[in-house]
Amino acid sequence: MARAQSRYVCQACGEAFLRWEGQCRGCGGWNTLVETLVRERPARARRATAASSKAGPVPLASLSEGEVPRLPVGLGELDRVLGGGIVPGSLVLVGGEPGIGKSTLLLQAAAGLALGGAPVLYASGEESGGQVHLRARRLGLLGTPAADAVHLLAEHDVGRIVEVARGLRPAAVIVDSIQTATLEELEGPAGSVGQVRESALRLMDLAKGEGIAVILVGHVTKEGSLAGPKTLEHLVDAVISIEGERGGALRLVRASKNRFGATDEVGVLEMVEIGLREVSDPARAFLVDHEAPAPGSAVAATLEGSRALLVEVQALVATTAYGTPRRTAIGLDPNRLALLVAVLGRRAGVGLASHDVYANLAGGISVVDPGLDLPLAIALASTLRDRPVRAGTVAFGEVGLLGELRGVAGTERRLREAVRLGFAQALVPRSRGRDPAVEGIEVVAVATVREALAAALAGADG
Ligand code: TYD
Ligand code: MG
Repeated sequence: MARAQSRYVCQACGEAFLRWEGQCRGCGGWNTLVETLVRERPARARRATAASSKAGPVPLASLSEGEVPRLPVGLGELDRVLGGGIVPGSLVLVGGEPGIGKSTLLLQAAAGLALGGAPVLYASGEESGGQVHLRARRLGLLGTPAADAVHLLAEHDVGRIVEVARGLRPAAVIVDSIQTATLEELEGPAGSVGQVRESALRLMDLAKGEGIAVILVGHVTKEGSLAGPKTLEHLVDAVISIEGERGGALRLVRASKNRFGATDEVGVLEMVEIGLREVSDPARAFLVDHEAPAPGSAVAATLEGSRALLVEVQALVATTAYGTPRRTAIGLDPNRLALLVAVLGRRAGVGLASHDVYANLAGGISVVDPGLDLPLAIALASTLRDRPVRAGTVAFGEVGLLGELRGVAGTERRLREAVRLGFAQALVPRSRGRDPAVEGIEVVAVATVREALAAALAGADG
């Protein structure tokens, strides 16, 4: 028989202790332990890992490939990120800040999945049936076949959700959100690590046991981590995140983990009056049209997965009034910014030691790409000297500590995208072999950041 036990569970790392302590011995966090009543479940309910089979081991040679079946969700950009659609029996976590559009995206995905023939269960612990109905109307789903095939369950009790799913036999179950999901036999509050993890495990049992795709919605905290359920990232098959500026319309959908496809594929969507829709030209989406030359702006040709995206890097410097100069990076790696400021000062005569420095990417996206170094360096020099970058110029390349430029992956793909979007000149690192050449664009290969600045800011007096 199940036994109730009290544990102190760290809300940051999930480690459990018998006694309360001020500091978690697992992760060192302060005041993170919360008393949680755990009723130990029978052992068999815990074996919730993927593909457990009763059969013995099989030689590698006799395994067949077995095409992974996929259910398209109907939104091309999301299907792209998932690797061609959602895999039956998989567990997917969709994360994003509150208000970014998770519920919208998933209701649209539910409608798309339902076109495959099987029903879809949308379990909402956050909103009432009426609220979801209003959203469905706004998305134009009422009166379509999807309106009959998507079943709404306003419920946060996971036991009940699983029971309904077993009866309905849907192609997919969407749980919005995992932070509001609770298991009756667990006493911790909704959103606590214990509840979140156990709920997810129970839903994984459903996914693996019945071959139903289960999508969990997770809220992300301001610091950018999936609140509480950090532990979920290890558990699920795929982690999809939605990013963007809340005030703005653009949304970037990205897979940071995907057991059934490539990671770091990105999809670009736009939030409009009737929901999220695809952007006609994603590569151009994050560029800004300036009426006059704008010092401090440089265009980067970045690579996200297999997709080249052209992004505007913006920088601003101001003389530090007092104290230590500030370095603020939004959407960019702050460590790279600090490093570039140092390199520019020592190797390129761009002194920023007594300046506050701000840098960000237009459109509220974040990009991790060593190729961003050079355009960021150019934007910094451009704003300090108050000279705009030559019109029609893109740049990419990694900057080393000696001010030297290093090549980055996907040079040709970046260049071809720049040509397509009408750029005339590209600043790229000089390579030891043959410098890259792509028809339709003047490729300026430079060896150092100093040379690059000279080329980028030459003849660009505004
Ligand atoms: P929502 O999906 O509720 O966000 P989340 O579930 O991540 O908290 O949507 C958030 C915002 O999107 C909301 O402020 C209104 C806006 N929105 C539109 O602009 N168009 C639409 O068609 C819909 C449904 C929402
Ligand atoms: Mg929501």
